[in-house]
Amino acid sequence: MQQTLSIIKPDAVKKNVIGKIIDRFESNGLRIAAMKKLQLSHNDAEKFYAVHAERPFFKDLVEFMISGPVVVMVLEGENAVAKNRELMGATNPKEAAEGTIRRDFADSIDANAVHGSDSLENAKIEISFFFAEREIV
Ligand code: RTP
Ligand code: MG
Repeated sequence: MQQTLSIIKPDAVKKNVIGKIIDRFESNGLRIAAMKKLQLSHNDAEKFYAVHAERPFFKDLVEFMISGPVVVMVLEGENAVAKNRELMGATNPKEAAEGTIRRDFADSIDANAVHGSDSLENAKIEISFFFAEREIV
């Protein structure tokens, strides 16, 4: 069993497809172990995506992530990290496989509907960024 962090990004929350995205997880063997809707501050978003601080797209990424509320979740299941990435599809929705969340709900490489932890190690860091232990059940 693994746990991974998922974020439904501001574009998908604005489109009112929170339930449709959660259904992709639940229908594919991932369980919601924790969930909340919140508005990231500028500081939160900079900290969360600190690994990308030197990248040219960092400023746009931070601005986008604070452009509206997000839904953060802990997904749990067998191979949850890789399974979530598979369900999400490629970063650029134009390259995302058919039937993936990004193919079906994302508009661009910036507004790409969801975030998912990219390794078990980062999943642990990202989960503890958002959730206290007692909130993960
Ligand atoms: P995420 O972290 O949000 O799950 O996305 P990811 O792993 O698929 O992609 P990552 O390389 O971690 O990049 C984080 C977010 O930055 C934006 N990005 N823009 N313009 C660009 O070349 C570019 N590359 C990445 C995307 O919004 C991506 O989700
Ligand atoms: Mg990433």
